[in-house]
Amino acid sequence: MRSLIDIIDLSTGELDELIGVAMDIIEHPEKYSESCKGKKLATLFFEPSTRTRLSFEAAMYELGGNVLSVTGGATSSVAKGESVADTAKTVSCYADIIAMRHPKEGAALVAANNASIPVINAGDGGHCHPTQTLADLLTIYREKGHFDNLTVGFCGDLKFGRTVHSLINALSRYSGIRFVLISPEELKLPSYVKNETLKKYHLPYVQTTDLEGAMPSLDILYMTRVQRERFFNEEDYLRLRDTYILTPDKLRHAKDDLCIMHPLPRVNEISVSIDNDPRACYFKQVLNGKYMRMALILKLLKEAQV
Ligand code: CP
Repeated sequence: MRSLIDIIDLSTGELDELIGVAMDIIEHPEKYSESCKGKKLATLFFEPSTRTRLSFEAAMYELGGNVLSVTGGATSSVAKGESVADTAKTVSCYADIIAMRHPKEGAALVAANNASIPVINAGDGGHCHPTQTLADLLTIYREKGHFDNLTVGFCGDLKFGRTVHSLINALSRYSGIRFVLISPEELKLPSYVKNETLKKYHLPYVQTTDLEGAMPSLDILYMTRVQRERFFNEEDYLRLRDTYILTPDKLRHAKDDLCIMHPLPRVNEISVSIDNDPRACYFKQVLNGKYMRMALILKLLKEAQV
């Protein structure tokens, strides 16, 4: 049974295919309005979410399907000690596809190994968030028209930011990509991401603490929230949380066609005074996430039937 746990589960051809379907959905939504009639999506969210859960649910409704939902362990039998494996087996009896968010790395894989229906990882701890990457890719495609020869800056919490890890992997498949990794020393990109992606494929990258110094070279600036929920120590979080705050002043030397992204939720990382700047793309990412999740649901349900 095909599931989506990590962005590496999708080939470059499949990423292009999903973008193609999402673009067709945007142009011809009526063609897809009954594509999932009679099908049910179960959203199992054991960690907070606004965008991911609601966009999955909106995606399924717009495909003509229905949704079953568990939000927070407290309202399900997880509170009684039920395992992820048993939860996945149980939900397989009621639904056709699962989207699951869980605080533990690897939980989505456990669910996929035990479910008899496709499982989509909607975020597992600090590990991966592949459908955010799909939203990010569609946003870059719609803004830039291509993925090649872009200089992409990631700024903030590159250690715990699972969306960063997944997007680096996806973008590293395209030619001429360069990465600028902007973070405090304590929140640098983990070595395993560097070793398994950047070094393995000999991709050019620089690490810096200087956002303004990097700004003029960037085609994409991907801001991230410092992930309070992943810190062991509140003092460290408070010290690091406001290291980077993007303000209009810091964009003085940015390119006119810079694409400013953020997976959201935002806390302080981007001043609201930037929201009306034509380069601000973070709410476009939110909408693009729904289209890519529609394309993904269609693909996995179709493959499950074969
Ligand atoms: N980007 C993202 O995953 O947002 P939520 O946590 O609101 O789902």
